[in-house]
Amino acid sequence: MAGRLAGKRALVTGAASGLGLRIVERFLDEGARVLMTDVDTGRLEAAAARLGAPWCPLDVTREGDWAQAMAEARARLGGLEILVNSAGIGTHGTVEELSLDAFRRCHAVNVEGTFLGCRAALGLMRETLARDGGRGAILNLSSIAGVVAGHNMAAYNSAKAAVRHLTKSVALHCAHAGLPIRANSLHPAFIDTPILDGLVRPGRTRAEVLAKLGRQIPLGHVGEPDDVAWAAVYLCSDEAKFVTGAELFIDGGLAAR
Ligand SMILES: NC(=O)c1ccc[n+]([C@@H]2O[C@H](COP(=O)([O-])OP(=O)(O)OC[C@H]3O[C@@H](n4cnc5c(N)ncnc54)[C@H](O)[C@@H]3O)[C@@H](O)[C@H]2O)c1
Repeated sequence: MAGRLAGKRALVTGAASGLGLRIVERFLDEGARVLMTDVDTGRLEAAAARLGAPWCPLDVTREGDWAQAMAEARARLGGLEILVNSAGIGTHGTVEELSLDAFRRCHAVNVEGTFLGCRAALGLMRETLARDGGRGAILNLSSIAGVVAGHNMAAYNSAKAAVRHLTKSVALHCAHAGLPIRANSLHPAFIDTPILDGLVRPGRTRAEVLAKLGRQIPLGHVGEPDDVAWAAVYLCSDEAKFVTGAELFIDGGLAAR
């Protein structure tokens, strides 16, 4: 079925790679217009050229970049109904191994980036919806690691748990303010994207690492980007108009144990 996002205007962060890129592809398939953003402008420009979508550089940790991205959304799309905060970094290490810099960097990108994005986009969404009508949606990429902890992911566990709760606060703020804007979080387990490259160690192939990760999942394998992208289409479409403050696990049953 096409057209599930017809007439919607979206900004996606982390759109040069992995889940953000696949979400853009599915959004375009479903009739949305999308402004692609990423800090990696080389890969972003190439992906945007392939898809024929507008793009602008955006480091999600920088307030000034967000102001510029909103100006681009206003100029290139004429407004904004959807924000997907997909930009993120994985950080490995136990509480004893991690430097304060690594802990802070993980929170800067994953949490502060999401906070800045929600705050910036709400302004433009308010303006757009007041003028054009319709409904808005924010979707934040948390992780199953924001719900289930691991011994060697102290910073990532902490950051993704914060994204989960921040999303609920945003959802309640919008409801309280009478804004027709919903906010939800996605919680994938291991999905086959470049973010998993950091888990590959010398002497192990990527396929061996994915197979090992898959053995931790009740369904027996890691996920693929479309497993997440289709959930994003649903949660950002008006099909989900009564869904806000929700968290969707896309984890092959990991958290069901
Ligand atoms: N793939 C998984 O297994 C998985 C599982 C759970 C959650 N997630 C989350 O999903 C999101 C997307 O991950 P992915 O798998 O697509 O990873 P990815 O590494 O393929 O893509 C992440 C993108 O974010 C961009 N990025 C990094 N720092 C940025 C910054 N400061 N500003 C703007 N962009 C920045 C990168 O350039 C990259 O294009 C992340 O938030 C990640 O934590 C991924």
